[in-house]
Amino acid sequence: MNKYLLKKMTFALLLALLPLLSAAASLPDIRVLATGGTIAGSGASATGSAYKAAVSPVEKVIAAVPELNQIAKIRGEQICNISSQDMKIEYWLKLAARINQLFRLGLADGVVITHGTDTLEETAYFLNLTVAYDKPVVLTGSMRPGSALSADGAMNLYNAVAVAAAENSRNKGVLVVMNDRIYSARGVKKCDTINPAAFADHENGPLGRVNYGKVTFNTRPDKRHTYQSTLKLGIFAATLPEVAIIHGYAGINPQIVETICKSGIKGLVYAGVGNGNPSEEVLTVLAKASADGLTVVRASRVPDGPVTLDAEVDDAKYGFIVSDSLTPQKARILLMLALQKQLPKSEIQRLYFEY
Ligand code: DGL
Repeated sequence: MNKYLLKKMTFALLLALLPLLSAAASLPDIRVLATGGTIAGSGASATGSAYKAAVSPVEKVIAAVPELNQIAKIRGEQICNISSQDMKIEYWLKLAARINQLFRLGLADGVVITHGTDTLEETAYFLNLTVAYDKPVVLTGSMRPGSALSADGAMNLYNAVAVAAAENSRNKGVLVVMNDRIYSARGVKKCDTINPAAFADHENGPLGRVNYGKVTFNTRPDKRHTYQSTLKLGIFAATLPEVAIIHGYAGINPQIVETICKSGIKGLVYAGVGNGNPSEEVLTVLAKASADGLTVVRASRVPDGPVTLDAEVDDAKYGFIVSDSLTPQKARILLMLALQKQLPKSEIQRLYFEY
């Protein structure tokens, strides 16, 4: 074939590919930060419930969904590879530092975090308080391993990348995408131990839907749930002050509560019954601990509704703080970050109403 003809064909081919190349070049840069979980898990049988979480590396999790490359330029990083019941503050600090760095250096237009579902809501809320940029940060996971029939991980990951790549996902705070729904980090909870539709936000409902990658937001997040939610307190140390949670129940032994209060913790979240109520005996123990300098937050074991000030408990008298609509596990996260600085209790209480 003569050189002229070859040149003409090459030019024609480039011309034909140009739209595809330019479309690919214009795709957003999405960084997938993997932490493990069922979405990286595998089981021996497609119909058996037994499986092991956190066995696949991030490359394999991404490679299982080649369609991701149609909607974004994907790069993966392995933060850790654990079942999320083993999630730790050190991984939270690593995630927050890496996400802030990626956005500060302009290396990503959005971030997706693949995560076990057991503590996904906690990581999401921690990041909502510590990521200082309005670019999308989206957490997702799966309730079934990829080896199972009707596995949910691939579509959850595809939808999470679609949300992270969507322009209207900015300034909505950290988001959670599970089962075609988009949730705010502040309100979302895992409400079912095994069902693919495990996540919900009963207070605010989902912020929107993502259906085969098509993103629609149906409401603004709670005013507290934007990137401005970031606590300007920042993170000063390699770890955070120890805060414990005690789950209240009928007939709770006050000595157990006293032992935990005296264990060296800096804060206690008491997940009381009803509107965050302790028993009389526990109230006496918490009042003494508060007087001795422990920061006590009244939360509730009840799944929905706020814990309100001075209802059945005289919070002003005992110096207690209420968690408002934060679950006990999220109330703990806010208290850890707030305790890094010697804030007056009135300022910490404001954070619960505003963050
Ligand atoms: N061990 C659980 C976790 O890693 C598996 C649950 C899941 O990821 O869906 O959170």
